[in-house]
Amino acid sequence: MADTALMDKLVSLCKRRGFVFQSSEIYGGLGSVWDYGPLGVELKKNVKDRWWRAMVHARDDIEGLDAAILMHPKVWEASGHVSGFTDPLVDCKHCKNRFRADDPRIKGVPGQPDAQCPTCGSRGTLTEPRLFNLMFKTFMGPVEEQAAVVYLRPETAQGIYVNYLNVLQSSRQKIPFGIAQIGKAFRNEITPGNFIFRTREFEQMEMQFFVKPGTDGEWFERWREWRMQWHRDLGLTATRLQWHQHGPDELAHYARAAFDVQYEFPFGWQEIEGIHNRGDFDLGRHQEYSGKKLEYFDQAAGERYLPLIVETSAGADRVTLTLLVDAYREEEVEGETRTVLGLHPAVAPIKAGVFPLVKKDGMPELATALYQDLKRRFPAFYDDSGAIGRRYRRMDEAGTPFGITVDGETVSDRTVTVRHRDSMQQDRVGLDRVGAFIEERLGRE
Ligand code: GAP
Repeated sequence: MADTALMDKLVSLCKRRGFVFQSSEIYGGLGSVWDYGPLGVELKKNVKDRWWRAMVHARDDIEGLDAAILMHPKVWEASGHVSGFTDPLVDCKHCKNRFRADDPRIKGVPGQPDAQCPTCGSRGTLTEPRLFNLMFKTFMGPVEEQAAVVYLRPETAQGIYVNYLNVLQSSRQKIPFGIAQIGKAFRNEITPGNFIFRTREFEQMEMQFFVKPGTDGEWFERWREWRMQWHRDLGLTATRLQWHQHGPDELAHYARAAFDVQYEFPFGWQEIEGIHNRGDFDLGRHQEYSGKKLEYFDQAAGERYLPLIVETSAGADRVTLTLLVDAYREEEVEGETRTVLGLHPAVAPIKAGVFPLVKKDGMPELATALYQDLKRRFPAFYDDSGAIGRRYRRMDEAGTPFGITVDGETVSDRTVTVRHRDSMQQDRVGLDRVGAFIEERLGRE
């Protein structure tokens, strides 16, 4: 399947089945902002829950945090975002469109008379590049003046740094330890796109690990290994995951070393998570700008030092898109095309569909009772309309791993058919065992 065709089909399936809708669609949509529908919200929540379990609940050395989106404006001066979180942009004076200065569609050098606008084709109308800050600005309180400017956070990390001492003291952790947070971030991206890959409002799953100077290299390597394994454990195709090491000209201003986990999307290899050795940049800057000492005192060793930070930063929306892309397939079955989302059962929005074969002979009653029982254990869906094959297909494209059919035999011997989404093989399972049978196969750890 051509790459753009695959993305088009995925976007269409996401809308049709209620995974992702364009924001404010009835008003023509809002650029690169998306809403998650009933299935999408479950899928993304499962991604976030899985991350939280791996990073917070399964470990003794990481604490959770939920910091506010709005922060003191000095935070963004200290972090370097006010001065450095910029893209060079050019405007077309004729058609008023705005482009990144390195947009490959621009012919010639912006600002020069022969440079040509990629949209309207005018020559000599492109301005010289000007730096444009990617942070969204708003005003706090009733007066819209410079002194009241606050920003929507462009990353969740800063909420962790400014709370590092609060968490350290209240949790009685010792270095090395980490703080994890999931939350919204906002960037006024100039070249957003590829569906939910690059958006202006998105969610990050970030963890900052505070370590003793000199141990950052080994922690960086450990975190690289653990994070890659986490992506593999989501069931992503291993050959479509790779590392990309940032060269000196790619490194962010705060990073001593950085590796991206990349996935091979239909539009190329792209970052889904960054692992950064941030050194002492963050705590050093916040110490300087706030005037508050942020050093750690190691009582056992009698040492005082500013911890270094190893960061793992993943996008919840990007991981969700990765799962959708990796899971989407079409196959021929008995002369018909079957569309399947082969999602890992642990992240699938619905775990089981329950289908009475016909709406009579006691089948709906048994199926309803089973459905009620299953719903107490995991998300399930009841469907009694249309041919059984069509009901299976509807669940296949929603990514539901198990389909349970209550048929004539169920009434006589109290067994049901459990159909496996990927192999389409069927097992006969006792009615009272179905819940446990499925739970054993969900791989929720
Ligand atoms: N705190 C470090 C930081 O924010 P980043 O590489 O800019 O680093 C980390 O972002 C992750 O956040 C990316 O790997 C990506 O998954 C996600 N992300 C960043 N910008 C995004 C956007 N505009 N839309 C969706 N996800 C984004």
